[in-house]
Amino acid sequence: MGGRFFFRIRFHIAKFKEFTQLDKIIIQGGVSLSGEVHISGSKNAALPILVSSLLADGLNTYEKVPCLRDIDSIKQLLAHLGAKVEQDQNVVTIDASGLNNSVAPYDLVRKMRASILVLGPLVSRLGKARVSLPGGCAIGARPINIHLKGLEALGASIELKHGYVEATAKRLLGTDIYLDVPTVGGTENLMMAAVLAKGDTVLRNVAREPEIIALADTLNQMGADVQGAGTSVINIKGVKRLYPVSVPIIPDRIEAGTFMVAAALTKGDVRICRCDPDHMRAVINKLKQTGAQIDIERSSIRVRGAEIIKSADVKTLPYPGFPTDMQAQFMVLMALGDRVSLISENIFENRYIHVSELHRMGADIEISGNIAMVKGVKNLYGAPVMATDLRASASLILAGLIAKGETVVHRVYHLDRGYEAIEKKFALLNSKIERVSDS
Ligand code: EPU
Repeated sequence: MGGRFFFRIRFHIAKFKEFTQLDKIIIQGGVSLSGEVHISGSKNAALPILVSSLLADGLNTYEKVPCLRDIDSIKQLLAHLGAKVEQDQNVVTIDASGLNNSVAPYDLVRKMRASILVLGPLVSRLGKARVSLPGGCAIGARPINIHLKGLEALGASIELKHGYVEATAKRLLGTDIYLDVPTVGGTENLMMAAVLAKGDTVLRNVAREPEIIALADTLNQMGADVQGAGTSVINIKGVKRLYPVSVPIIPDRIEAGTFMVAAALTKGDVRICRCDPDHMRAVINKLKQTGAQIDIERSSIRVRGAEIIKSADVKTLPYPGFPTDMQAQFMVLMALGDRVSLISENIFENRYIHVSELHRMGADIEISGNIAMVKGVKNLYGAPVMATDLRASASLILAGLIAKGETVVHRVYHLDRGYEAIEKKFALLNSKIERVSDS
């Protein structure tokens, strides 16, 4: 009784700490960034690829995995399902030979929506899955209806009970599926479900993001037959068995884009190394329109900021359009533009969380529906700020870098979900930035 009591107390203290991460980032603004920054592996490529380990028995090795909270969350979930998971710096090994649990509980899924990606592989491997519904999040409702409709089309029975999706199937059967929206997670879930299905599957109107290609390449190295990733139609021939792999994770195009905007914003001169410029054409083109000078090499991009930031309009769209994950950061650049910029957010319904914090720093932004009208101002001013979303938090760091005076970004928890050592990387570019713990 006593032991259990203390275990519970420790559990609740750990949970409390998790929610009240007291670290904050303090920035003294006004320094032009200069130097080189090395881009980490992509969070959004790593998450589905780590999940794909569930599809084979044996030891998989993943290199260049970023050290992030979201990666810790997915590792925890995979271990809960019975996989043996280890990490040594940026190398993660996963052996799912012991996969024996088909339940992804609320406490693990609520930490990170991408946990829903285990649904397809679990049904495919174990014939059943019970996965907590992820629910909404700070940036919108984010339904998973397309994941579920696709699984049903592959022959799974789906029920929603007590906040959980329950899916069962003796064996999934290949079929022709049209996705109403080219959802990234939906495409990934269905690809992972279909690779071991009986027969052929065609997925139409799928997402075309580089992360989809990275997952398809990984599945093919495991012995799957997935063709067409990167186009809007993916053809999959089901195979009986998959085998473990050893793969590196592709560079994080959103981290790279965030540093590109930082360079342009601070009128700096930064070489963004170990990135893939081909994945970033929309952001590169937009930044050029704002006057930044951009030189592209094979795996690096040099950005030199212009004296005058030219205002430019931007619409977020599925890849190869301008990424919604760069909208908040680009808005900070436009907040200091020479005219008015219209930004329209077309992917998520509520992705302007950063705007009220940017107002507090002196930005002139008006929201009407999904359009933000950003009137450039001369200066932003440091302030205490916080945001409840990863990219919104990143935009506040950028605003702090250019603002006059001191900015304190609270709830660093969100940044740690998706940016590896962000303050250390900015510090290496000469900015005056530090992480401080309040605890
Ligand atoms: N949607 C549906 N039904 C579905 C699935 C999606 O209506 O069944 C809608 C969503 O509500 C949204 C749109 O489709 O309006 C696009 O959502 P998508 O499913 O493509 O997004 P996601 O897979 O949940 C991934 C990234 C996000 C990124 C989006 C869009 C991961 C782990 N997450 O999310 O990344 O914003 O694609 O590119 O890959 C981030 O890294 O900060 C982040 C939020």
